[in-house]
This record gives sequence, structure tokens and C-alpha cells, in this order.
Amino acid sequence: MELSTIKTQLKTEILGRNLVCFKETNSTNSVAKNLAATGAPEGLVVVAEVQTEGRGRAGHKWDSPAGGLWFSVLLRPTFPPGSTPAISLLAGVAVAKALRDRSLNATVKWPNDVMASGKKLCGILCEASIQGDKVEYVVVGMGMDVNNDASKLALEAGAIQPTSVRDLLGKEVDMPQLLAHVLLEMEKLYQRASRGGFAPMIEEWAALSDTIGKAVEITDDSGKVTGTARRITPEGALVVDTGKEEKVVTAGDLRYV
Ligand code: BTN
Repeated sequence: MELSTIKTQLKTEILGRNLVCFKETNSTNSVAKNLAATGAPEGLVVVAEVQTEGRGRAGHKWDSPAGGLWFSVLLRPTFPPGSTPAISLLAGVAVAKALRDRSLNATVKWPNDVMASGKKLCGILCEASIQGDKVEYVVVGMGMDVNNDASKLALEAGAIQPTSVRDLLGKEVDMPQLLAHVLLEMEKLYQRASRGGFAPMIEEWAALSDTIGKAVEITDDSGKVTGTARRITPEGALVVDTGKEEKVVTAGDLRYV
């Protein structure tokens, strides 16, 4: 993935205008966090052809062979810290929109997976640095199986079955073009949220949702919540009807049951 090819495809004002490309690195999220700590500007994008220590949510490993799109976007939002989960939903909406423009019936699964045909196409890992009541930065890491063979991915126990864009479309897609498209969708959503809040994005997320109405089990540090996923709050939390009460779940691993 040549740096020059990505640059020529960019249609954004901010996202990706500062671009760091690796043939191989440990984790684009780790690189972006290090650069954020030394003052890198909002919009920095770090992308790698291969990650040797790709990280997933909840301490999972993220297999990142050649052919996938592994990248991280640095944001310096002025939103309060409570809105960082919404940023991760926003990234999922951006990815789903770009994939839908490529004839894939992409949906979003709470909290931050993008799915198609019941399998996972993309995972999102947001890592934020909060100082007091201010967000210093958020690194939004996205891992999308694009031109790689998903059946060859190393999977941890209990992981959702992955698929790739190539597996679904039966042909390879232009990765720099797809990356540029995701960044454009993300920038539009982010700028709209910065001006007027997250409400329209949350509506779009709900319309693309794979989760609302389903029987779910969510596991977090404090245990499990089981019930029917009813709706999403303006902050991006999931409301689950347990049969006895409605519980608002802000984070956790979700499984359809
Ligand atoms: C998940 O579904 O568990 C989240 C996976 C996030 C993977 C991406 S790949 C680019 C970025 N760098 C990382 O180390 N992780 C994220």
C-alpha cells in the first residue's frame, strides 16, 4: 500500500492529511498513542500493511496479516469524556457506509463491530487519554479484513466468525481508495457531531444496527446482563430489557444468544 497512492485518493480536510505508513509495525494504535503524547495533531492517521502485535478489545490479540486494512486515527475532541463511546459508534457507522457503497450489506453490532452476512468484517478499538474533565486525545483503531483470506486468521476462543470484503465480493478491492472513503465518511460524521452533537449519528447507527431487537448477553467486569437489546441512548449505551427491568449497559462484550 504505497503512501503516495493514499495521499492522492484523500478527499478529507483533516483526517489523513498527516499520514504515517508502515510496511510493518507492532500496532498502529500504539504508534498513534506515542505520537499523540508528543503533540501530534488531530487527524493523524497511522496505517500498516502488517501488525506484529495488533490489539483487540478486552486484551485480545488481533491477527493482522497482509491484505487487511489496519489503521488508527488520532482525534482531539472538545466533547466531554462521557462521549468517547459515541466516537467508537461513529467510526462503525463510517466503515459501514463505505462498505455499503461497495454493495455489501454491512451492519453495526454494539458496541463496535461491523458485520456482513452474520460475520465480522471490522473491529474498532478506541483508546482515550482523559485529563480531569477533558479528553486529551482519542485514538480510533480500525481493523478491517479486506483482501485477506479470513479463514486463515488466528481466532481466540469465542471470537465471532470473521469474513473479508474479498471473501464476500469475490474480488479484491482498492485498499487505499477504501481507506480514503472511510476517512471521508468519518470526517463528515465527526464534523457534524462537533457542530451539533451525536444525535443524528446515533439515529444512523440504530438504522444500521444488527443488535437492536436481538436476544443478547453482555459480559463486563461486573458480570453478565442477558435480555433483549431495545435501543441505544444518546451517549451510545445499550438499553437491555432483562424481563424485569431495563438496564443501561455502557461497555462490554456482546454475544447473540
Ligand atoms: C476488536 O474487535 O477487538 C477491535 C480490533 C481493533 C484492531 C485494530 S487494527 C488497527 C488498530 N491497531 C491495533 O493494534 N488495533 C486496532
